[in-house]
Amino acid sequence: MLRYFTTGESHGEALVAVLSGLPAGLKIDQAFVDRELWRRQQGYGRGGRMKIERDSAHILSGVRHGLTIGSPISALLENKDWKNWQESLPVEEGDPAKHKRVGSPRPGHADLAGALKYNFPEARYILERASARESAARVAIGAMAKLFLRELGIDILSHVVAVGEVSIAAEMSWDQIAAVCGREEILLNCADAQVEQRMRDEVDKVLKTGDSVGGVFEVVARGVPPGLGTYAQWDERLDGLLAGAVMSLQAVKAVEIGTGISSAASPGSTVHDEISYKASSGFAGFQRGGNHAGGIEGGISNGEEIRVRGYLKPISTLRRPLQSVDFASREPVKAAYERSDVCVVPAAGVAGEAMVALTLARCALEKFGGDSMGETLRNFRGYCQQLKTY
Ligand SMILES: Cc1cc2nc3c(=O)[nH]c(=O)nc-3n(C[C@H](O)[C@H](O)[C@H](O)COP(=O)(O)O)c2cc1C
Repeated sequence: MLRYFTTGESHGEALVAVLSGLPAGLKIDQAFVDRELWRRQQGYGRGGRMKIERDSAHILSGVRHGLTIGSPISALLENKDWKNWQESLPVEEGDPAKHKRVGSPRPGHADLAGALKYNFPEARYILERASARESAARVAIGAMAKLFLRELGIDILSHVVAVGEVSIAAEMSWDQIAAVCGREEILLNCADAQVEQRMRDEVDKVLKTGDSVGGVFEVVARGVPPGLGTYAQWDERLDGLLAGAVMSLQAVKAVEIGTGISSAASPGSTVHDEISYKASSGFAGFQRGGNHAGGIEGGISNGEEIRVRGYLKPISTLRRPLQSVDFASREPVKAAYERSDVCVVPAAGVAGEAMVALTLARCALEKFGGDSMGETLRNFRGYCQQLKTY
């Protein structure tokens, strides 16, 4: 079973991710993992921190001579900012005068709920862990899940569908999304160049006013065979697993599979994807007239592209802070401000890809899993053959 954990504070020494359950013999391409980390750091509207960090996954265990060995993998991502925080956030007691308190909880953050829950008099430790810096660790192991899925012919990408009130009008094809993801300079990762400029204006608007903006990303997985996930038990449904995985990302407040949201207001005749047959097509010769289902029916992948959208609320930290209360005096004050992004939709899309990859890899391993890649691929190819001769 594929399992994973992350640890680390935003301004601590490092993040660490542990991924257990990948078969032995999978080639780990370090350059690919680091490029995924780089992609998460890009996008118009990111804060100053992205200029300090250039993430790289330092693999500590589970990979030898470039291949997984079936043991848990651990990867360490250094926080380059640690040198400026060693005295403020030491592991040992340190000098309390140098600790950086967060004296007033910021609306939209975990600050208040977390301080109440863990019984801290201020919010420093809360934001250290609730911060989306943690998503970098997920991207590192998500990249490894992607490398595994590639061996099965499954690829995953994302693009930005909306920033604030600006959105693309049409569905973007895989090739259009691949072209924008391959760029060396990432603006808003939108596959429509004109809309991307308008998205940029939307970010400029909030930059000027000290506000922030949210948006929507879409993750697309191509090459997924029919049969991942099942309706047999509620917690094995692929749509439920993907929704939980994507929703678990910081700032994601809604998840949509296919055209789920607009489908709720449409008649069935325009929503359900009609079925036809052409022997040479797809995994088993069946074709669809559209993909409103986003590649999942009855909690099972149906062989079409899987399309999952994450809806992000606007960034919570505002340069023009919202009203709050001082933890100590209970007097009204403006919320604390720490350096912040104003728009993170492209980066959240990359983290969304990681969560989709980890989820699909888990389901693929449940269906085809062996201890080695040879065994897993044999199982996978046997199943594909079964589909071909269905
Ligand atoms: C990639 C990424 C980067 C983020 N960067 C920031 C940031 O710089 N400032 C901020 O206030 N929130 C940022 N967020 C969102 C917060 O982490 C998140 O809203 C906050 O922790 C509260 O959690 P919740 O929105 O899930 O309830 C970011 C989210 C993502 C996905």
